[in-house]
Amino acid sequence: MTHPISLGPSILTADFLNLGQQIKAIESAGVDYVHLDIMDGRFVPNISFGMPIVNAVNKATSLPLDVHLMIEAPEDFVGAFVEAGADTVTVQVETSVHTHRLITTIREMGAQAGIALCPGTPVAAIEELVPFVDQILVMSVNPGFGGQSFIPTMLDKIRRIRALIDERRPMCRLQVDGGIKPGNIGRAVEAGAESFVVGSSVFDGTANIMVNVQQLREAAANSRV
Ligand code: DX5
Ligand code: ZN
Repeated sequence: MTHPISLGPSILTADFLNLGQQIKAIESAGVDYVHLDIMDGRFVPNISFGMPIVNAVNKATSLPLDVHLMIEAPEDFVGAFVEAGADTVTVQVETSVHTHRLITTIREMGAQAGIALCPGTPVAAIEELVPFVDQILVMSVNPGFGGQSFIPTMLDKIRRIRALIDERRPMCRLQVDGGIKPGNIGRAVEAGAESFVVGSSVFDGTANIMVNVQQLREAAANSRV
């Protein structure tokens, strides 16, 4: 079964002095959602932004907001991010013992629930959650920064998770996040991924956002011919 490809720019590498204009630019480029990377300086060695930015982006666009929590104790904040406008809240499986309860809570709040795995975390860590989640996020870089290189061994992990989803939860989205470029998105599509977070390949400091998105879409589509 081939799933439609969706692209979600991560605003982590966007021009924060012109965030409204950058959101308009990705809307015009026809992206499918906005990815917002929340970092606490504890789970990852970086601090990004919080609910006020999610709130502001929610006011600036009707695109779905895909909030990626790279924070410790996510259970303390999921409500605030749903309140701020998150349509999907993805938590890192490494940050909570009670992940099943957390996923259930996110869905009870009316948002979709995602579970993310760091590159070093085995697929087995999320196996019991597959029947309950709306999205599985395979990190193809070590979380914390934009602009890193894609880790090629994650392609096999994507294939294994695709098999798990097809067997247990066909409606679950398989999302990949980190180092996605026109030169590698095709291989990730072939491995079974369908939703792609794209940061520095879209927000590259130039005015080429439309071109950048088109190149990613073409590269993804070409892998299916
Ligand atoms: C990394 C974040 C990613 C990152 C993607 O911790 O979760 O979303 O911003 O940026 P690129 O596409 O530049 O790797
Ligand atoms: Zn992310």
